[in-house]
Amino acid sequence: MSERVIPLVDQRTAVVAAQVPAAPIVPGGQLRDRLARPLRDLRISVTDRCNFRCSYCMPKEVFGKDYPYLPHAALLSFEEITRLARLFVAHGVRKIRLTGGEPLLRKNIEVLVEQLAQLRTPDGAPVELALTTNGSVLARKAAALRAAGLRRVTVSLDGLDDAVFRRMNDVDFPVAQVLEGIAAALAAGLDPIKVNMVVQRGTNEQEILPMARHFRGSGIVLRFIEYMDVGATNGWRMDQVVPSAEVIERLQQHFPLRALDPTAPGETAERWAYEDGAGEVGVISSVTQAFCGSCNRARLSTEGRLYLCLFAEQGHDLRALLRGGASDADIASAIGLIWQGRSDRYSQLRGQQAPDASGGGRRVEMSYIGG
Ligand code: GTP
Ligand code: 5AD
Ligand code: SF4
Ligand code: SF4
Repeated sequence: MSERVIPLVDQRTAVVAAQVPAAPIVPGGQLRDRLARPLRDLRISVTDRCNFRCSYCMPKEVFGKDYPYLPHAALLSFEEITRLARLFVAHGVRKIRLTGGEPLLRKNIEVLVEQLAQLRTPDGAPVELALTTNGSVLARKAAALRAAGLRRVTVSLDGLDDAVFRRMNDVDFPVAQVLEGIAAALAAGLDPIKVNMVVQRGTNEQEILPMARHFRGSGIVLRFIEYMDVGATNGWRMDQVVPSAEVIERLQQHFPLRALDPTAPGETAERWAYEDGAGEVGVISSVTQAFCGSCNRARLSTEGRLYLCLFAEQGHDLRALLRGGASDADIASAIGLIWQGRSDRYSQLRGQQAPDASGGGRRVEMSYIGG
């Protein structure tokens, strides 16, 4: 009997082997990349699948019925993820965010949450554990996630108008169900809850004010995100970007705002407070005001590749080390070496060079490594 052969050719990006250096790099939380940036934030993608087809992320024409998602055996197991996460934490990671695709589609995700919630930083503090979701099944899962040790969630929601939202997710998914998910997360004690809205000129910019009005005073932090040129499939154009400065200006006309100081170094969002005390909003300006200078984020793909930038053209294969019997010390050294070699700052360079000047390779998709 002949077995079906699954080709190992990867369509997503190039993969490079992770090298174990001759001299060990012992985790001490002091790791710096070539631009002196520390490693603090690890984003772990737990599935490359999603039940939405947002045109800016997983357009139907590309992510159709025959799209070759990763086979189950390619995915890191929860034990493999937790083992790697522990080594990243030893190297200085303080925040772990689970992403996808849609992370809540990964079976028994709360079991992984429970394992990750046990991790402690070298000074004994729990790791800040968060999750980014489209909210579609959050109403069902919020309580179990909280019980497993999840601290907070960020829900993606691009508008309140049902017709606009259904068109944007392209699977006719109703706003009401996402709002129910947010309500369930609140009730479960996930805190703070953030809502991310990607703003696209001509598509949902008219939703800026209704969204602000809806979430003001609710304790939920709404963030407006500039539409980015991630991946290779979304047909991004600069004229579809609504600059954050314009978002703030529009909001100011209705609700006076005051700029707030950042809460943590390397933060993505610029924070603003409503002058009347109705809480805060944020803007994430990765296009008009790149924040690469303080970027402390690493991304681990569903199949165990380490990406050093949202716009990376290659991933470093940590799974091969895991499954090849490498010791913790060796894997930690390999991670150290990869981070020490990092010089990525795509968004900063975007304005200064032709789009393919960084090598012309295929860029990783957002649905594959998460936001
Ligand atoms: P908080 O811990 O809640 O502040 O989360 P976060 O803002 O770090 O993470 P989140 O996943 O909510 O990120 C929001 C959006 O910011 C993403 O969807 C991306 O659009 C953008 N973003 C996050 N990290 C990066 C990054 O490293 N580079 C760029 N260019 N954009 C990023
Ligand atoms: N630009 C900005 N944000 C994006 N996201 C997905 N694609 C893009 C893009 N092209 C965001 C989603 C979600 C997170 C996972 O990433 O809206 O908040
Ligand atoms: Fe799914 Fe989020 Fe991508 Fe939309 S943006 S297709 S919800 S992963
Ligand atoms: Fe970090 Fe790359 Fe984003 Fe710059 S573009 S902030 S280096 S992930």
